[in-house]
Amino acid sequence: MIERTLSILKPDAVSKNHIGQIIARFEKAQLKVVGLKMQTLTPEDAKAFYRIHQNQPFFESLVSFMSSGPIVALALEGENAVSKTRSLMGATDPKKADPGTIRADFAESIDANAVHGSDSPENAAIEIPFFFRTLDLVLSSP
Ligand code: CDP
Ligand code: MG
Repeated sequence: MIERTLSILKPDAVSKNHIGQIIARFEKAQLKVVGLKMQTLTPEDAKAFYRIHQNQPFFESLVSFMSSGPIVALALEGENAVSKTRSLMGATDPKKADPGTIRADFAESIDANAVHGSDSPENAAIEIPFFFRTLDLVLSSP
């Protein structure tokens, strides 16, 4: 099924000049970029985006890291885009991520782990509009 997902290239990936290499992996996997935006999140933005984790012990450090520098938000479209993006990303902890995944190749720690990807179509439907208005998105694939 063709679906959409939200990915974020996190501040570590952006500061290390990995934007192009990570987007290339998505594109090579037949995911189409249908929205793209670079911005620096305020701590309030990051808190709102990650509110599902607000009771986790890592919440404050996650918010601080995600607002520490520019990020790139991507809306990706393709066959099974949510699970495909999660497979390309690898495990949350880069030390446990399979070889060849984005986190294994570009991330250095569980907090600075290079990318975000929606974990379900339901959350993708919440996360995409967090960053993109309808008018900011490509309407449909050719
Ligand atoms: O990003 P993912 O869906 O793989 O993991 P998550 O469990 O939804 O956690 C969200 C983010 O919180 C992770 O990507 C990490 O950046 C951060 N985190 C952390 O700093 N320390 C942990 N023990 C777990 C997650
Ligand atoms: Mg998650």
